[in-house]
Amino acid sequence: MSALRSVVLGTGSCLPERAVTNAMLAERVETSDEWIVQRTGIRQRHIAAPHETTVTLGTRAAQAALDAAGLGPDAIDLVICATSTPDHTFPATATEIQAALGIGQGAAFDLQAVCAGFVFGVTTADKFLVTGAAQRALVIGAETFSRIVDWEDRTTCVLFGDGAGAVVLEAREGGERGVLSAALRSDGRYRDKLYVDGGPGSTGAVGHLRMEGKDVFRFAVGQVTDVIVDAFAKAGVTADDLDWFVPHQANRRIIEASADKLGIAREKIVMTVDRHGNTSAASIPLALDVAVRDGRIKPGDLVMIEAIGGGFSWGAALLRW
Ligand code: ACO
Repeated sequence: MSALRSVVLGTGSCLPERAVTNAMLAERVETSDEWIVQRTGIRQRHIAAPHETTVTLGTRAAQAALDAAGLGPDAIDLVICATSTPDHTFPATATEIQAALGIGQGAAFDLQAVCAGFVFGVTTADKFLVTGAAQRALVIGAETFSRIVDWEDRTTCVLFGDGAGAVVLEAREGGERGVLSAALRSDGRYRDKLYVDGGPGSTGAVGHLRMEGKDVFRFAVGQVTDVIVDAFAKAGVTADDLDWFVPHQANRRIIEASADKLGIAREKIVMTVDRHGNTSAASIPLALDVAVRDGRIKPGDLVMIEAIGGGFSWGAALLRW
C-alpha cells in the first residue's frame, strides 16, 4: 500500500462587507495613508459589522471551500478552526461552524497559534489524514481582530483586519500531490512581545492586543527562515523549485525581506496585505483563495505557506497543489 498524502480539494474565503481605507482610519486616530503604506504596505482592511462574527465569516469561507471541492457536509470528518478571536470562550468555533454547515460526524476543535494558526492547522490535519484517522478535513482560519485591537493605539490598530479562509484536504493514496513537509516551532519566552492583556483565566475580560512592533519585526525576519529551510530540506527541494510563496500577510517589508533572505524570487510572492491588512490566522487561507481563483496557483504547483505570530509560534508547510 502506498503512503497517504493530504491533497487540497478546494479553497474558500470570506471578507466582511466594509472596507476601511487608511484615509478613513486617519479620521479616527492620528495617522496617515503615507505612513501606513510606507511602513506596512497596507492600503485597506475589512472590518466586521456587528452581525459579522468569526463564526459567520468562517462558515461562509468553509462553505465556499466545500463548494469548490464539490463536496457536501457528509464528506467531512474533521474540522479544525485556527482562531484567537472565538465568538465564545467555549464551545469551540470549529463546532459552531460544524453545526452551521450541517456536519454531524467526526471531530471539530479550535487551534490557537495566533497568526501561525493556519500553518499549525494544516500540519495537524495532515497528521490525522496520513494516519488514516480522518478522511477529509476542513481547515479554517477565521478572525475578528478588530474586536481585540485597542482603537486608541495607532501603533497597532492600523495593522489588523477581519476575515476568514478555508481549505478542504483529502487523504489520497500515492501520487505527487499533497502536503510534502512541515516544520513548526514555538518559544514562549517571547510572550511579552505580542500578547492580549486579558482572558477568561486571568482578568475575566477579553483584553486588548499589545505588541512591541520593532522586536516582532526583527524576530520575524531573523528567525522565521529556519522553519522554511527545514521544510525545504525535508521535502528535498529548494527555493528555485517553488512556484508560489504564500506567507502570513502582516507587513510587506517583512514578507519581502524574508523572501530575499531565502532566495525566493519576488514574483513568486502572493501578496494580499495591501487589501486585507493582517488578518492573523485567516491571512494565508485568504491569500491562497485569491491566488487559486485568479488562476495563479494551479494543480501541480509547489506552494510554501509560512507564518509567525504571538507566542512566538511559527511554522512552514510545503504543498504540491
Ligand atoms: N501613524 C503614524 N505614526 C505612527 C504610527 C501610525 N499608525 N504608529 C507609530 N507611529 C510613529 C511612532 O510614534 C514613532 O514616532 P516617533 O519617532 O516620533 O517616536 C514613529 O512612527 C516610528 O515608530 P516605530 O514604531 O519606530 O515604527 P517602525 O518603523 O518600527 O514601524 C511597525 C512600526 C509598522 C509596527 C513595524 O515595527 C512593524 O511592522 N512591526 C511588525 C509588526 C507586525 O507585523 N506584527 C504582526 C506580526 S505577528 C502577527 O501577525 C500577530
